[in-house]
Amino acid sequence: MKLFADTAIISEIEEVSTWGIISGVTTNPSLIAKSGISLVDAINKIVNLIDGPISAEVQEGRAEDMVSEAKIYAKMHKNIVIKIPMTLEGVKAVKQLTTLGIKTNVTLVFSTSQAIMAATAGATYVSPFMGRLDDFTGKEDAGFELVKDIKSVFKTYGYKTQIIAASIRHINHVDQSLKAGADIATIPFKVLQDMVKHPLTDKGLEIFREASKK
Ligand code: G3P
Repeated sequence: MKLFADTAIISEIEEVSTWGIISGVTTNPSLIAKSGISLVDAINKIVNLIDGPISAEVQEGRAEDMVSEAKIYAKMHKNIVIKIPMTLEGVKAVKQLTTLGIKTNVTLVFSTSQAIMAATAGATYVSPFMGRLDDFTGKEDAGFELVKDIKSVFKTYGYKTQIIAASIRHINHVDQSLKAGADIATIPFKVLQDMVKHPLTDKGLEIFREASKK
């Protein structure tokens, strides 16, 4: 499973780029607003930091408007993937962008039927939102079950669309993404940092430090 950074904050992307293990970045309008810069400025900076798929989200609306906006971002760099919201207009836009050879990431996916609509339209990626589904259902494994089901459906019917596990809030969601067979997990900076930590690692280091003093 590949690890993407789910952030548009440039200092965070600069930091993770030094780790050498992050192979893509996803942004959305909320993350762009939080970053304090425009989407175009963010794209221009991010493409120079991470050499991999960078998702840039168009504004939800009519398919033709989303396609026009998508073409602008797609022209900016070869690694740009157009993030399209999961609506009927979105499905139409994905179909048209696929025909043009432009990669897409269908976002706000909460069911297998949504996932196959996107995949049938030719989406490169679908993004099931684990955390938001857990919150909505009140179940800690709702997101996990969703990713697992989408994986199983894609495998059974031979869809090539890759699954980006999104709306990841904590390490357990990362573990669940792995167990469910996600192709990619897109992870907030704080959770990426937490992934290297374990209390027993800290304790072990302390023991080794003490031992090396002797
Ligand atoms: O990748 C989607 C993600 O940014 C949404 O996360 O925490 O707002 O549900 P969240």
